[in-house]
Amino acid sequence: MNILLAAAEINPFAKGGGMADVTSYLCIEWGDMGHDVIGVLPGYKSIDKAAYGLRKTDISFEVPMGFGKETATVYSGSFPNSDARIFLIGHDEFFDEEYVYGDRNEDEDDDRRFLFFCKAVPELCKAINFSPDIVNCHDYHTSFIMPILKAQYKNEPLFANTGTVFTIHNLSYQGVYDKYRVMDFTGLKHKEFEVGSWFEHEGKVNFMKTGIMYADRILTVSPTYAEEIKEPYYSEGMQDAINSRLRDITGVLNGVNYRVWNPSIDTYLSKKYDSNSLEIKEELKLEYLRGAGIPEKMCTLPLISFVSRLTEQKGLDILENKLSKLLNTNKFILAVLGEGQEKYEDLVIEAKNLFPENVILQLNYSDREAHKLIAASDFLLMPSKYEPCGLTQMYALKYGTIPIVRATGGLADTISNYSAEKGTGNGISFPHYNRDELEASIRRAIDLYKSKDHIEKVRLNGMAENHSSRRCAKGYLEVFKEVLDDKG
Ligand code: ADP
Ligand code: GLC
Repeated sequence: MNILLAAAEINPFAKGGGMADVTSYLCIEWGDMGHDVIGVLPGYKSIDKAAYGLRKTDISFEVPMGFGKETATVYSGSFPNSDARIFLIGHDEFFDEEYVYGDRNEDEDDDRRFLFFCKAVPELCKAINFSPDIVNCHDYHTSFIMPILKAQYKNEPLFANTGTVFTIHNLSYQGVYDKYRVMDFTGLKHKEFEVGSWFEHEGKVNFMKTGIMYADRILTVSPTYAEEIKEPYYSEGMQDAINSRLRDITGVLNGVNYRVWNPSIDTYLSKKYDSNSLEIKEELKLEYLRGAGIPEKMCTLPLISFVSRLTEQKGLDILENKLSKLLNTNKFILAVLGEGQEKYEDLVIEAKNLFPENVILQLNYSDREAHKLIAASDFLLMPSKYEPCGLTQMYALKYGTIPIVRATGGLADTISNYSAEKGTGNGISFPHYNRDELEASIRRAIDLYKSKDHIEKVRLNGMAENHSSRRCAKGYLEVFKEVLDDKG
């Protein structure tokens, strides 16, 4: 199959959140399975092209944007240790900044940047003579590729049999913009943007709705999220669009690239371990706590970590009122690695100031630290308000780190409550998004930690599971085949 995957984030070239991990392993897995795969990504200035062996090609083409034309330049190369190819679409101005997304408070130019990208993708296919069987678009930044293909390239032989699949990673980021600006950039007819059209939501152009409506098939990143988004609580206003496409939505659970997230080969760790050498995990914990300046007498306490973007999604609101009360018990160490909204950064800074010996705080983004902390931790906290899938809980399982989660989206699909009687389950999970259930779950974790046997059993249960990226990549291929069969 010829597969084109388009996204605003693809590892290792550009990463904002979990989407980058997923788009990357999909390309690599499909490539390993013998498919002809190209990943296409905006050529952000921040990408160190030389480090990844990406070369500037002599491909260059004009993309009509409104009244003018913009020139695209192209870099190409391969994914590390893979036959799958990667193409970067560059532009002197649009991607000539360090960021992936515009500053969230003044992102008025992201519509132009990503529409340029969407319009350049079919032109890239022409320039390299790539005829995709499937174009797989990820999240709203890429959704306009689909109507553009349908409206402007339908007579091109290269796209005669192309099917489109839209993956929703997170419904809460939708790409909402002024319709006059967008319609001028797209080159689609003005009348197509009327109220009630597939582009329009509450008087604005909505990129997410566009993707939902124009794709041949829609994927969500977990089966539970596919169910949840039919309801207003989770749908972020998209429930009508979602419910109009129910027959075409499938949840395929994300997976883990075990070549990257695996404690037995993890190059970030000073010592490797697996389920037969859990004593090394203990040593890594000690190394981490000592490195962070935690007093020796405190190092026997359980280490609970929070490795995440600090946003409303991740459950910080229900943690807020309970944090001081819980830390005051002096029964655990909390390590936070994350960055995000100011109010949540302030919350953890305050906790650090009040309980300097119980809190380790790293307000930044670091792959290395994420690996080291997940390996060192006893528990990983993810009390998410909603979680389309979540990857870190699956990374934690592989590292023998016990997830404490709110059962929503992919967290509900991957984490089951440990039963001391039966010895089953891989974590601690609570059903409702509220403070008391969160507090009870953290207390349960602290209690569980007192029993070495139980802790080891939960760890081993999780480590024995297989959430491989290959399984996820195969799930996508099944849907791709159905799309192609439908096309006849
Ligand atoms: P989301 O995509 O909603 O942020 P996921 O659990 O799917 O949530 O993926 C988060 C990804 O980002 C994981 O790879 C995780 O390790 C990484 N991550 C989150 N915060 C940080 C951080 N501060 N430093 C390094 N990696 C982080
Ligand atoms: C989004 C979601 C997260 C998911 C990730 C990768 O960022 O918030 O739950 O795991 O995408 O699909």
